[in-house]
Amino acid sequence: MNSYVAPRRLIKSAEAIEKMRIVGKLAAEVLEMIKPHIKPGVSTLELDTICHDHIVNVQQAIPACLGYGGGHGRPAFQHTICTSVNHVVCHGIPSESKILKHGDILNIDVTVIKDGYHGDTNMMYVVGGETSILADRLCKVAQEAMYVGMETVRAGSYVGDIGHAIQKYVESQRFSVVREYCGHGIGTVFHDDPQILHYGEKGTGMQLEAGMTFTIEPMVNAGVWQTKTLGDKWTVVTKDHKLSAQYEHTLLVTETGLEVLTARPEEDLSRFQK
Ligand code: MF3
Ligand code: CO
Ligand code: CO
Repeated sequence: MNSYVAPRRLIKSAEAIEKMRIVGKLAAEVLEMIKPHIKPGVSTLELDTICHDHIVNVQQAIPACLGYGGGHGRPAFQHTICTSVNHVVCHGIPSESKILKHGDILNIDVTVIKDGYHGDTNMMYVVGGETSILADRLCKVAQEAMYVGMETVRAGSYVGDIGHAIQKYVESQRFSVVREYCGHGIGTVFHDDPQILHYGEKGTGMQLEAGMTFTIEPMVNAGVWQTKTLGDKWTVVTKDHKLSAQYEHTLLVTETGLEVLTARPEEDLSRFQK
């Protein structure tokens, strides 16, 4: 079978896992803290400033995206969060001129560093609390896509099992899965091995072991899966300009399943409690 064993450096020690739990909680807390600030008329730059100040001053942690990812003709990211609205798939740049309006769907993606370890999570928000039936269903399908991928995770399963489950579910809902961006191993390194594709074949890729930490972060499009990147070299949009939605958690593999390191208190994760 087309599968392989994880390099030992990807198996976290008990001390590293404890640090991942702490930073995961901080990242999750940012997504909760920002919620009451998301309303019609606010700019995505204002949301970025609030998250930045919370991470730096309250959490006494480091915003991982600030200054990240420069090189090969691309400027480093200059903000704390990614704010991706409507047809923006990911990596939306906070801006003073991007004013949220009633019915917009917004993804906020935040990565925090504490004590050298990263916690990475994102979720969708509906501006003003209601949107179209299509946008609402897209957001729900993106979250469920993340959960069906998570349901395959345990020691002994394969990275390909995650992608297979996500793709099968999303396509059954007549939506598409973005191919160009994927989940990733995470720890002291922000984007580490393995790559977690959100499509693919069961039983393929790296075999999971207890102590591995990685993200699952499917991007689900209402139309075609193809994307394009704007001239700012960061903003990724759907090729057909139809809506896109994403959810992301940082996860720890356990013998019997997983632990959600970026769980939010209001989130129903009962199906993962074993
Ligand atoms: N948080 C994103 C991820 O899920 C990465 C954003 S990189 C940035 O992997 F530079 F755009 F912020
Ligand atoms: Co992220
Ligand atoms: Co990520």
